[in-house]
Amino acid sequence: SAAGPLKDITNRYVGSAVAAGPLGSQADYRSVLTREFDSVTPENEMKWAVVEPNRGQFNWSGADAIVNYAQQNGKSVRGHTLVWHSQYPNWLNNLGGAELRNVVREHINTEMGRYRGKIRAWDVVNEIFEENGSRRQSIFQTRLGDGFVAEAFRAARAADPSAKLYINDYNTEGMNAKSDAMYNLVRTLKQQGVPIDGVGIQTHLATKYGYPSGFRQNLQRLAALGVDIAITEADVRIPLPVDQNKLNQQATMFKQIWDDCHAVSRCVEFTTWGYTDRHSWVPGTFPGEGAACLFDSNLRPKPAYTRINP
Ligand code: G3I
Repeated sequence: SAAGPLKDITNRYVGSAVAAGPLGSQADYRSVLTREFDSVTPENEMKWAVVEPNRGQFNWSGADAIVNYAQQNGKSVRGHTLVWHSQYPNWLNNLGGAELRNVVREHINTEMGRYRGKIRAWDVVNEIFEENGSRRQSIFQTRLGDGFVAEAFRAARAADPSAKLYINDYNTEGMNAKSDAMYNLVRTLKQQGVPIDGVGIQTHLATKYGYPSGFRQNLQRLAALGVDIAITEADVRIPLPVDQNKLNQQATMFKQIWDDCHAVSRCVEFTTWGYTDRHSWVPGTFPGEGAACLFDSNLRPKPAYTRINP
């Protein structure tokens, strides 16, 4: 584009989720990623089920590959994610509270310690709320209680004092019961001196639902708590088949996300959940919807890209 790559038109981090598979095997995927973005988030490779499928048996190959790519290419890394109700290993289900508490602390220590100094920001806890704002009844919640969140942040600060520590969630873009719960929790954690630096707003949107109302206002109220904000997983899915009108609607919504982040000085990162329709979680999860990314499957920029970077 005329103005240069996305990463050069803003002072925010501009990131994408990446998968180690195509990063290692597809030169074109790797080269557009390298050209356009200055931050990467491993899509699955740092999740607990991947890194420790059996107790004490570790697999760091995918995570190492992405961190090495980042180091060699001057990219920042967002670590994703340490404590999450999904994609955790089955062996955790057999542990009682006292043991689970130790194992969670150890996991945070081990994974953050391995990459100490190489990760700009970590999603320490992910998706802890239900839509109505109550706590999700995960094994962490039911066996460790509400305090598991503060405990995870304290362990994380000790494990890598150089990393920014985030709580991350979805459907917390606009003003609603779930984003109220997020706001209230972060306020409480700050009051209690818990080491939390930021709030991740996933931002998985769909053209059929339109743009979340009060998105900017929500970013502003979070920033007023004295935390950073990151758009961590943006995508805008559209009902298939794609047509020009839908691509334009998508472009408008992506630009609104971009503008709302830039309207709030503490919004420090704009990351998309994959950058090309060639690799996206959307079609597998929402049958009949897809094409949610900034680039098409041939790595050509879509109207959404051009709207942000004309
Ligand atoms: O790696 C195995 C492979 O060995 C096996 O043959 C295959 C068969 O199903 O599964 C593969 O694992 C899949 C994994 O992605 C890697 O491709 C899992 O089944 C699949 O469930 C997993 O989906 C991921 C999903 O998180 C899991 O909940 C998506 O790729 C990933 O994009 C998605 O990302 C999440 C964020 O972490 C948190 N926020 C929401 C976001 C979208 O769901």
